[in-house]
Amino acid sequence: DTAARAAFSRGGIPYGAAVRTDLLDAEFDYRDAIVDHCQLVVGEGGLKWFDLRPSQEQFVFDQPDRLIDFADRHGMQMRGHTLAWYGAMPDWTKSISSAAEAERELVHHITTVVGRYRGRIQSWDVVNEAIAETPIRGAVIRDSIWQERLGARYIEIALRTAADVDPSAQLVVNDYNIENPTSQCRDRRKAMLDLLRSLRDRDVPLHGVGIQGHLPGDMEIDKEGLSRFVEELKGMQLEVLVTELDVIDDKLPASEYERDQIVAQRAGDFLAAIGEAVRPGAILTWGITDRYTWVPMWFKRSDGKPNRPLPLDAGCRPKALMKVIDEF
Ligand code: G3I
Repeated sequence: DTAARAAFSRGGIPYGAAVRTDLLDAEFDYRDAIVDHCQLVVGEGGLKWFDLRPSQEQFVFDQPDRLIDFADRHGMQMRGHTLAWYGAMPDWTKSISSAAEAERELVHHITTVVGRYRGRIQSWDVVNEAIAETPIRGAVIRDSIWQERLGARYIEIALRTAADVDPSAQLVVNDYNIENPTSQCRDRRKAMLDLLRSLRDRDVPLHGVGIQGHLPGDMEIDKEGLSRFVEELKGMQLEVLVTELDVIDDKLPASEYERDQIVAQRAGDFLAAIGEAVRPGAILTWGITDRYTWVPMWFKRSDGKPNRPLPLDAGCRPKALMKVIDEF
């Protein structure tokens, strides 16, 4: 089948995509696109606090349960996204008022969720987007309920808890905005490496780093900077995963053909820079078809034309980006 052939050309690197689980039973061309191309899936939502925890007492597992059954049925693996993040938090968590309460909630959440999928979800984005948007001395870790109540040690608590509950799972910290030739990206790479070193120095269980790869289409990739960063990760024996690849095309030319070429070029440069240092453990795009993408929520085009950030067009036909990934 096509998916297996492509994995072979990628030297066995599994390809996957973020899935909107509710569409799997509703839109068959969407479902077929996932089945045809993916060896791996991750819920675009579903395992986030906002989705799982409508109230402090409740865990609603319907979506992730459906997705993991789907993955099993089609011989795919599933990644878990995500256990500790500043975003997509339900309102009730604002009432968490002390360090002790925050630790209790975080540990209870991770124990319950990782425990439910123990041995089935092999890889977790335990901590998502921990680095501040613009890291400055004294404020390197991004603000969140966890950071406010526990300080940076929430990261360690989350990782240790996940490791206790499922010792066989791959534990990952996942972040974005590290691949461009800007001082912000340089600072974020440095902040990330500092964090990783401090975790290693304290023997905190951690196995991988997710480089999201929401690439701004109008900016070059800092190939050297990115390769050096990935070399450092390799030196720390951390697996590198591409977790959320897409290309933000709001500022790119109107012509679809030209845009698709630039999108493919950016992703190609990004993957090549990583590939200079290591073979990533997986490549996932954040969605599969341009029909369903988060990009217009934040980066709508001013000419009103639909965004084209993903490997398949709105009709689920492969674009140049799919070829770049398949041939990587
Ligand atoms: O659930 C309602 C749905 O019922 C309604 O029809 C729809 C109409 O707008 O809104 C739905 O919820 C939205 C959901 O996406 C479904 O697409 C939420 O309001 C919206 O907040 C949610 O946004 C997601 C966002 O994370 C926040 O959780 C995006 O889909 C998702 O792509 C985005 O993903 C993040 C990663 O987790 C972390 N890295 C960056 C990435 C992109 O922002």
